[in-house]
Amino acid sequence: MSSPFHHLLATLLYAALLLQASSSSYAQLSPTFYDQTCPNASSIIRGVLQQAFLSDIRIGASLIRLHFHDCFVNGCDGSILLNNTATIESEKEAAPNNNSARGFDVVDNMKAALESACPGIVSCADILAIAAEQSVNMVPLGRRDSLTASRALANITIPGPTDSLDLLKSKFVNVGLNNDTDLVALSGGHTFGRAQCRTFDNRLFNFNSTNNPDRTLNTTYLATLQQLCPQGGNRSVLANLDLTTPDKFDNNYFSNLQSNNGLLQSDQILFSTTGDATVELVNNFSSNQTAFFESFVVSMIRMGNLSPLTGSDGEIRSSCSRVNGASIIGSSNEADLISSI
Ligand code: HEM
Ligand SMILES: *[C@@H]1O[C@H](CO)[C@@H](O)[C@H](O)[C@H]1NC(C)=O
Ligand SMILES: *[C@@H]1O[C@H](CO)[C@@H](O)[C@H](O)[C@H]1NC(C)=O
Ligand SMILES: *[C@@H]1O[C@H](CO)[C@@H](O)[C@H](O)[C@H]1NC(C)=O
Ligand SMILES: *[C@@H]1O[C@H](CO)[C@@H](O)[C@H](O)[C@H]1NC(C)=O
Ligand SMILES: *[C@@H]1O[C@H](CO)[C@@H](O)[C@H](O)[C@H]1NC(C)=O
Ligand SMILES: *[C@@H]1O[C@H](CO)[C@@H](O)[C@H](O)[C@H]1NC(C)=O
Ligand SMILES: *[C@@H]1O[C@H](CO)[C@@H](O)[C@H](O)[C@H]1NC(C)=O
Ligand SMILES: *[C@@H]1O[C@H](CO)[C@@H](O)[C@H](O)[C@H]1NC(C)=O
Ligand SMILES: *[C@@H]1O[C@H](CO)[C@@H](O)[C@H](O)[C@H]1NC(C)=O
Ligand SMILES: *[C@@H]1O[C@H](CO)[C@@H](O)[C@H](O)[C@H]1NC(C)=O
Repeated sequence: MSSPFHHLLATLLYAALLLQASSSSYAQLSPTFYDQTCPNASSIIRGVLQQAFLSDIRIGASLIRLHFHDCFVNGCDGSILLNNTATIESEKEAAPNNNSARGFDVVDNMKAALESACPGIVSCADILAIAAEQSVNMVPLGRRDSLTASRALANITIPGPTDSLDLLKSKFVNVGLNNDTDLVALSGGHTFGRAQCRTFDNRLFNFNSTNNPDRTLNTTYLATLQQLCPQGGNRSVLANLDLTTPDKFDNNYFSNLQSNNGLLQSDQILFSTTGDATVELVNNFSSNQTAFFESFVVSMIRMGNLSPLTGSDGEIRSSCSRVNGASIIGSSNEADLISSI
């Protein structure tokens, strides 16, 4: 697990500590929440993550994205992990997630390992937060798990790759991330991971009914992408979100934008919207990786603090994909149905 997160650690621990010390806005979340009840929680999660990483270099990226998509729908309450049932229309099948969000099996493995070490203690919402921020030891914990999910909300609150800059900003503002720095720093999450052709091929041939490609796409990169994602081709083919250092957590995402090498329209728009405050932020993060890392941690913690369930709200699920005590009837999983009889 050395690569994606390794570089964040040294620089960021300091920032996270500062932030913890100086802020009183963390509700009831605390970085030491499990110190007495499940002291090995973080190392158990790290162990599963390291194991998964051996066969899937992308898994860290996929888990950060799960946390993001969890937090943007009624807050960070593990709702994205719930399966379909008679009463729950899962967020897994919402438009931004279906055939796209991944890593659920790894989360289930983390939960299984934690249930065996300390049953009923560590929430699925916190597993997502810990896995996403494994490099930042002080991530505040204490989130509990939702009893419901909302596919309808997931459809509309999660930002999309063809959203305008105004819409991207308003989706962040609507969840309480009301500062351009949050949008630009968190978009830096696209410094690793993959995207399918369907999420950017609108830019390649007939952009916005112009009969031309997106003018803000570097012509060299355009040629590469046109070859990877030809018209009428397989739209599930994957491209690296960061063409220079695809699996490394660094600030190259921002220098890519400066040379018109952002993959998604929603990436490039942060730099190509002349006069917008986002342009200066991109320049800043591109020229100073430390400034990016510090802002990324601050914004990840702000995002992780969005309307968590705490105290006695919600529950601690024993299986991340199912509400405790829920009837198995209506589950999408026939094997569960059979094994429960
Ligand atoms: C600003 C608005 C955002 C938009 C429009 C957006 C959109 C997307 C899209 C379309 C993909 C590709 C999905 C696919 O092809 O299946 C993607 C992947 C990804 N996103 Fe975002 N995203 C945004 C913000 C974020 C944030 C805030 C984070 C985390 C801090 C993030 C982390 C990731 C990661 C790591 C991947 C790769 C996942 C993988 O390889 O499995 N994104 N995003
Ligand atoms: C935590 O892990 C250490 C070493 O991995 C082990 O010796 C210890 O027994 C574990 N403690 C608990 C409470 O599981
Ligand atoms: C999710 O994707 C699967 C497989 O492509 C498809 O069968 C299903 O209808 C999709 N779900 C929704 C709600 O669109
Ligand atoms: C969510 O979006 C998908 C795809 O656009 C649509 O088929 C589905 O009806 C929507 N579901 C809800 C509950 O809004
Ligand atoms: C965002 O918030 C930080 C910290 O509160 C502040 O220093 C910064 O000026 C804000 N940035 C923007 C673009 O609003
Ligand atoms: C698409 O075209 C419309 C009408 O010409 C224009 O107002 C809009 O800004 C364009 N969108 C993008 C992303 O270029
Ligand atoms: C499309 O590409 C995806 C990802 O590479 C692959 O898994 C899938 O099998 C391909 N589908 C077809 C019909 O070739
Ligand atoms: C296109 O990208 C290359 C590097 O891949 C860079 O050298 C060049 O300056 C870029 N061109 C523009 C117009 O941004
Ligand atoms: C730009 O970076 C400097 C440090 O290099 C920082 O002090 C300043 O607040 C940053 N500006 C913005 C808008 O983030
Ligand atoms: C880079 O950013 C950090 C953190 O904001 C700041 O302390 C440092 O002075 C900046 N370096 C330069 C060269 O601007
Ligand atoms: C949830 O769905 C996934 C995929 O269909 C399945 O692997 C998992 O076992 C299900 N979980 C439960 C508790 O039914």
